[in-house]
Amino acid sequence: MKPMVQQAQEAAAYIGKRSGHRPVIGLVLGSGLGVLAEEIRHADVIPYEEIPHFPVSTVQGHAGQLVLGELEGQTVVAMQGRFHYYEGYGLDQVTFPIRVMKDLGVDRLIVTNAAGGINLDFGAGDLMLIQDHINLMFNNPLFGPNAPEWGVRFPDMSDAYDPSYRQLARRVAEDQNVSLREGVYVGLTGPTYETPAEIRMLRKLGGDAVGMSTVPEVIAARHAGIRVLGISCISNLAAGILDQPLSHDEVMETAEQVKPRFIRLVKGIIKDIRSV
Ligand code: HPA
Repeated sequence: MKPMVQQAQEAAAYIGKRSGHRPVIGLVLGSGLGVLAEEIRHADVIPYEEIPHFPVSTVQGHAGQLVLGELEGQTVVAMQGRFHYYEGYGLDQVTFPIRVMKDLGVDRLIVTNAAGGINLDFGAGDLMLIQDHINLMFNNPLFGPNAPEWGVRFPDMSDAYDPSYRQLARRVAEDQNVSLREGVYVGLTGPTYETPAEIRMLRKLGGDAVGMSTVPEVIAARHAGIRVLGISCISNLAAGILDQPLSHDEVMETAEQVKPRFIRLVKGIIKDIRSV
C-alpha cells in the first residue's frame, strides 16, 4: 500500500480535476446536519466511493459525498457524512478526508456534530460552541510514525478550538439573536450510548456534551496547522438525566428542528471567518 501522505495527495489531485473550485474552508457536517451542503452554490458533488483511497463504506447505503462550491462568498468543501471510529475504520481512515482537505488548500475547518448534553443547564435543541475537548477514545490518529509532511510529532492542543473563531461565533450568534451555549465536548468511541454512571463521571471530569466523533478530525486538523471551529447540536440530554431511553431517532428529530438556526449561524460565521 502507498504511504498515506501520497494517498492523500492523489485523492486531492483527483478532486482538483473533478472540480474547478479551490476551497479554503472545510466543513464536516454531523448527523442530521448535512443539509447545510444543499446551500452551496455552483456545487460539484463527488461521492466518496469515486475518490481514490477514500475509505470504503462498511455499512449499507452510501457513506456520503464531498460538496465543493461557494457559500456566503467563500469557496468551501463540505463532507456530507463522515467516517466514525465505531464503524470499524481506523483513525487514519477517519481523518483521511482532513488530510485531503489540507492538500486541497484548506486552512480553516468548521466541524459539527450531534451530541448528548451532559451539562444540566442544557436542553435538547441547544447549539453549543466547542471550547475544548476531552479525548476518551483511548486512541489517537497520530499514533505511529509521524509524517513530517503533515505536521510535528507533538502537536500543541492548547488552543485546539481557535479563540478568535469562538469570539466570531459568539458575535454572529448575538447578531442573529441565537442562543449559543459553550462547553467541553467529550469524544467516546460509541456505538453504545453512555450509561447514567458514565455520564455522572463525565460531568465530574468537566464535560458539557458527549459524542462519538469530531475529536480525531480536530487532532488531524491541528496537526496540519488548520484552524478549527466546532459546533455541537445538543440533540438530547445524555443518559440518566431524563427518565427515558435514548434513541437515534430522537437525535435525528432534534437535528431536524435545529436545522434552520444551525444553517443561519454557520453561514454567518463562514461569511466573516477569513477576516479573523
Ligand atoms: N451520547 C453519545 N453520542 C451522542 C449522543 C449521546 O447522548 N447524542 C448524540 N450523539
